[in-house]
Amino acid sequence: MRPSQSRVIGDLANHMRRSIDETLSEARVHLSLDQRKEASQRYQRAARLMDRYAEYAPNRKIQHARKVQSMRFREIARNIGRRHIESHPSNAQKRKSKSARASRGKSACVTDQIHEWLTKSAVTWDDIGGLDDAKQNIQFSLMLALTALPPGVSMPTPRTILFYGPPGTGKTLLAAATSNSLVTSSGESSSFFNVRLSSVLSKYFGESSRLITELYDAARQMAPSVVFLDEFDALCRDREYGDSGPERRILASILSELDGLAGKDTNSPCVLTLAATNRPWDIDSAVLSRFEKRIEIPIPDEKTRVSILACHLDRIGVPVEVEKKKLAEMTRGFSGREIERLIKDVLARMLARENQEKIGLLKREPLLLEGKELKVSPLTMDDFVWATDRIRPETTPDIQMRYQKWSKIP
Ligand SMILES: Nc1ncnc2c1ncn2[C@@H]1O[C@H](COP(=O)(O)OP(=O)(O)OP(=O)(O)O)[C@@H](O)[C@H]1O
Ligand SMILES: [Mg+2]
Repeated sequence: MRPSQSRVIGDLANHMRRSIDETLSEARVHLSLDQRKEASQRYQRAARLMDRYAEYAPNRKIQHARKVQSMRFREIARNIGRRHIESHPSNAQKRKSKSARASRGKSACVTDQIHEWLTKSAVTWDDIGGLDDAKQNIQFSLMLALTALPPGVSMPTPRTILFYGPPGTGKTLLAAATSNSLVTSSGESSSFFNVRLSSVLSKYFGESSRLITELYDAARQMAPSVVFLDEFDALCRDREYGDSGPERRILASILSELDGLAGKDTNSPCVLTLAATNRPWDIDSAVLSRFEKRIEIPIPDEKTRVSILACHLDRIGVPVEVEKKKLAEMTRGFSGREIERLIKDVLARMLARENQEKIGLLKREPLLLEGKELKVSPLTMDDFVWATDRIRPETTPDIQMRYQKWSKIP
């Protein structure tokens, strides 16, 4: 970056910081006059500014801290709206009791977690090979969810989609691309909450239901947004505790959020819930019925494998001596993740072959490696045969059959 550019960015960031401070002062003035609506709006504005300010952070740690701040401002705005004036920082300082401090600690923890889930996705539809039916299905649902219904028309539109299929077939990729294709009114991509349910269970055992409620509160605030519930079956696996186990409690919270979001009201915020699982048969029918669409993401067929190979090979800038069609034949039964691994293995083999002398240099005089360029050569049939022999597809034909059979169950 040129010095003049970095100065401009620095000025911009300073300007944003000042705007945030001014907005917060205004909020406090409104609050002191008991003008809660105005105060809440100022905190909302401060949160939006803080989001932008986070984009200019010099490193990830500071960026995270700023995102956490913006979440807190949103939380304050919400609480003021709900007449919970206690959450204002100046009043919060006055609360000295131990229990209040403990609950504030928990609240910050929950907020931090929600912020950790808030990720920006760079994945586009073109980064996903094949899966055309799944993409079209999702795009259609998105279009319905985002557009207004004509006056007098009332009909439900799908806002809950379940992806199921073997590991590594592109379920998470699809969720990421979905979030990236939702754009907010200010031209930014939507908020994408990437929630791994197994981590909720392990980290937030007692507080997990509250976490879900706050997660959906945040998703509504930042709409349009996508809540992606990954490893959904984690909630349905252990029934040992009956209806009172932590899994069932989280599930109950999720279901009540889904029920709240169901149907279409043109004024309701667009929050799309996507869930993914490798074990759809573990999900009971009452839960399954909450998902308006269920989309199978299977092990790729030959045509899809050609597209996946193209996605991964075309971007590396190294020539490939073998036709993609031939490679697709050689990778029967492979998932997208296994194809990705194959290409990594092939590349590593080629790089090791071409750069032997640099490995020797590393042992003798590592400093001499600085500024040296890696040698590359075309990827050969021999490389691919060597690598495919080392990968045994995780999903056997029997397991594939199980998904197909489950899909047929009405
Ligand atoms: N259709 C695809 N096109 C391009 N790459 C793919 C495709 N499917 C899978 N991949 C590759 O495999 C990796 C894993 O995919 P992803 O994380 O979406 O799988 P998943 O279905 O969510 O797996 P799991 O069930 O284990 O969570 C991706 O990062 C990508 O590199
Ligand atoms: Mg996944």
